[in-house]
Amino acid sequence: MNTLAIDIGGTGLKMVVLDSAGVPVSTATRADTPQPATPDALLAALERMAADHRDFDRISCGFPGVVTEGHTRNAPNLGAGWADFALAGALGTRFGKPARVANDADVQGFGAIEGRGVELTVTLGTGVGSGLFTDGRLVPNLELGHAPFRDGASFEQLLGKPALDKRGRDAWHGALFEALAIWHALFNPRLLHLGGGHAQIIERPLPPRTRVVDNSAGLIGGVALWRNPEG
Ligand code: BGC
Repeated sequence: MNTLAIDIGGTGLKMVVLDSAGVPVSTATRADTPQPATPDALLAALERMAADHRDFDRISCGFPGVVTEGHTRNAPNLGAGWADFALAGALGTRFGKPARVANDADVQGFGAIEGRGVELTVTLGTGVGSGLFTDGRLVPNLELGHAPFRDGASFEQLLGKPALDKRGRDAWHGALFEALAIWHALFNPRLLHLGGGHAQIIERPLPPRTRVVDNSAGLIGGVALWRNPEG
C-alpha cells in the first residue's frame, strides 16, 4: 500500500511516494508554490509534480491552514479561495485515488512523535504551525502561531519567514527561545518537537525536552494520517 505524500508550504511544495512503513519509494521532489497560490494554481502545480511519482494507492496531504473533514478553512500564507475548499475531494478527483488532508504541522507531528504523554510539535517555516498530541492522539486545530506573543505581535509575526528575513537571525533566535519557555510553561510537554525548514538553522543549545526533527517528517507523517481514525 503506497501513499503519495504531499506537503504544501507557503514557499515550496514537496512530494514523495512512501511504502506502508514510511520508506520512500520515489525520489522526493520540490517545486515553488505558485504565486498567488489559489486552489486551481496549486492543484495544477501538484499535478505537474505527480508526473514524477507513480504507483501509489492513496494520497496524504499536509496543508498550511486549518482543515476539518477534508475541507480547508483558511490559509494565512497562501492565496485566496481556501475559506471552504474541499481539498481532499479535489485531490481524489484529480488523481483518482482516495485522499486525506490535514494541517501541515499535525502531519509533521505524526512523523515526529513517540506516542507517549503530551507531545507538542511546532513548525518553523513560512508560518508557524503547531500540533498537540496526547498518547499519540491528535488534539486538532491548535493554532499557536496566531496567539499573541509580545509587543502586540503573534508568535508567527515574530518567528515566521518574513520576521526572520526582516529582523535577522539574532532577533529571531531571541524570540524563539522566549517562545520555547512560554510553550513549555503552558503545555508541559514530555517532548517538544521543532520541525519545518527553519528548525534546521537553530544555532543555540535547546532547552530540556526539546528536539529538532528531520525535515522529512512533514512527508513521512503522511502514512500515519491513514492510521488516524479522524483522517
Ligand atoms: C497556519 C497554520 C500552519 C502554519 C504553518 C500558519 O499560518 O495558520 O495552520 O500550520 O502556518 O504552515
